[in-house]
Amino acid sequence: MAVIFHENSKQFHLFNREVSYIMGIMENGQMENLYYGKAIRDREDFGRFHEEEMRSQMSVCVPEPGILSMQYTRQEYPVYGTGDYRSPALCIRQENGSKIVNFVYAGHKITEGKPSLEPLPAVYTEEDSEAQTLEITLHDEVMDTDLILSYTIFEDYPVIARNARFEHKGEEKIVLERAMSASVEFSDMDFDMIHLAGAWSRERYVKDRKLEMGIQAIQSLNGTCSGAEHNPFMALKRPDATENAGEVYGFSFVYSGNFLMQTEVSTFDMTRVMVGINPEDFAWELKKGESFQTPETVMVYSDQGLNKMSQVYHRLYRKRLMRGKWRDLARPILLNNWEATYFDFNEEKILNIVKKAKEAGVELFVLDDGWFGARNDDYRGLGDWYVNLEKLPGGISGLSRKVEEMGLKFGLWVELEMVNKDSDLYRAHPDWVIGVPERFESHARHQHVLDFSRKEVVDYIYEMISKVIRESSISYIKWDMNRYMTEPYSRTSEPSEQGKVMHKYMLGVYDLYTRLTTEFPDILFESCASGGARFDPGMLYFAPQTWTSDDTDANERTKIQYGTSYVYPVVSMGSHVSAVPNHQLFRTTPIETRAAVAYFGTFGYELDLNLLSDEEMEEVKKQIEFMKKYRELIQVDGDFYRLLSPFEGNETAWQVVSQDKKQSIAALYQKLNKVNASWFRLRLQGLDKDKLYEVSCDVSAAVCTGKKEKEEVLTYCAYGDELMYAGIPVSRKYLTRKGGDFAALLFLVKEAD
Ligand code: GLA
Repeated sequence: MAVIFHENSKQFHLFNREVSYIMGIMENGQMENLYYGKAIRDREDFGRFHEEEMRSQMSVCVPEPGILSMQYTRQEYPVYGTGDYRSPALCIRQENGSKIVNFVYAGHKITEGKPSLEPLPAVYTEEDSEAQTLEITLHDEVMDTDLILSYTIFEDYPVIARNARFEHKGEEKIVLERAMSASVEFSDMDFDMIHLAGAWSRERYVKDRKLEMGIQAIQSLNGTCSGAEHNPFMALKRPDATENAGEVYGFSFVYSGNFLMQTEVSTFDMTRVMVGINPEDFAWELKKGESFQTPETVMVYSDQGLNKMSQVYHRLYRKRLMRGKWRDLARPILLNNWEATYFDFNEEKILNIVKKAKEAGVELFVLDDGWFGARNDDYRGLGDWYVNLEKLPGGISGLSRKVEEMGLKFGLWVELEMVNKDSDLYRAHPDWVIGVPERFESHARHQHVLDFSRKEVVDYIYEMISKVIRESSISYIKWDMNRYMTEPYSRTSEPSEQGKVMHKYMLGVYDLYTRLTTEFPDILFESCASGGARFDPGMLYFAPQTWTSDDTDANERTKIQYGTSYVYPVVSMGSHVSAVPNHQLFRTTPIETRAAVAYFGTFGYELDLNLLSDEEMEEVKKQIEFMKKYRELIQVDGDFYRLLSPFEGNETAWQVVSQDKKQSIAALYQKLNKVNASWFRLRLQGLDKDKLYEVSCDVSAAVCTGKKEKEEVLTYCAYGDELMYAGIPVSRKYLTRKGGDFAALLFLVKEAD
């Protein structure tokens, strides 16, 4: 790994074993991108990658007889107004109304390691030797403003992490109306754009389309979160790239608020990628001496397809984005009471659920919504973070201790950023909500957004909730957030500061997370937003797992978890076995399948185990035993491979493989059963082709079929090459026995003795 500056050619080359990123200082002092892709050996001069051509209608930005034209340049941080008519990375309004800038190279610094971006979340290094950081300072003389472009290259990952910082020194105020984190220019447009789109209960479906001339973008304008509609992730893949071969460029934005991810293909076939805070409704005024730091973009390069890209994100985010005690640990098997009781519970009912959970081997009980204030439905109570003594006479402190005495850890649900108008908090502080006075305040689920851009609001909520935590014995917190922002306006901000509100809101959320995770370092936090509307890297910095979706139907979950796995590690995906008929889709799937999907996540239950039959309860015990045995492999050690896509066919399959390639688990799920069908080959990935493995698969009849047949386990030995290239032959009969429609099979693969 190295960051090299070539004095003569004025070029920077960042590279490691896998990736190269090359930039140069142009004749006009601005920066240009020369190459980003598979590692190439370092040379003194890559000037040949600079493409310059005079074309009709183009303006030239250096004195005669120059022909340097911004419209045909791969600018490192593009600006509008000097001949480039594509979207810029920045826009700065100055006091005279002009938006023209000229940021030219003023110097650079190369340091070991990676500086922290706090209070913003970002990937980090533990040892300086893990990465090098290049900071290039560009200066605009007229405004007297520095723009610092920062690049970190890692030793062991094909990753470049980028951000930008503005430091204003001039007397006159400036307003940042657009300040993107990164822009990358490619000299061609031969790409498919992949992104993850959806809505509540169907988050992160994989979308794939060919790039065309013009702009294609995804965004969030939700204010409170990255959103269920679009995840802050995008990849450009070569059309011939697959899961396991070919070039892919990933872009992941470490931020939980409004974002924009955009590709723009020029009519000269150049592709510009832009990632950053959404400029819509963003305006950040800087006075002399003030600065603005953008969030981080993590770029991954893979020459081995999408699986490799995802595995890099998984490893990096698991080891160098997540933090704290839980970063390296397998997760407790939990039972959450939401779908078991909704708001309708009391202590007796809860303890009854806990008792049965203990019997099954569950390790953590999570009390969801409804334990505080007058919260018997979703019309009231949010904001009143003190226990409802009618439901829980011993308080949370009493209940948490009782649960612990019964042998389980205790976890609690909170939704700290919200308030119902029917609450003591709102009655005391009606001006604490986001909204414009004298205008209608839209609500969602009868709740309103507290103005977390204000420190006093965050302080108050912190005091309230930390008191509950201090008094009780709490091992886990589910931090929910159930609505998007509307009428974004802070009642205490100056008119000129209103464009800061949504970013400051997010900084307030990060601040509260920082305070709580600092004061309670042993607590496992799970973030949540109406299911998976805040599944983003920003959250993973604070909470190492996220509730993936409110949709707990096993078949739907294969799609949601498959899409989520493009960026996020298995251990970050909250996944539960829930009751049937499923509460979101009213679909019935076998209990084995529900577990076989939930194993590839944090794993837990979201139902009252008292309502299961004896056979089902026995099955649950087996499932918990299985997960306890294999969670280290699935969540901590293993690399995850997508094998068959639920977006393409009737079968879905994925697999985890241990680092030493001695152990693997593959899962196969089908949607509808097929009658009189042919056999099927499941080809594995990631094994050692020369190792002899023992494959086993339980093909006995499933609980749901009601047939008490004897246990039947398929076992045989095969070399890695056979399992990967020829595959495991699967009879449809096995799937029929497992329930037919929505059946699943699990293949355990381990090195033969
Ligand atoms: C959201 C969450 C659910 C549950 C409810 C409680 O919808 O996603 O898991 O916690 O809120 O109100």
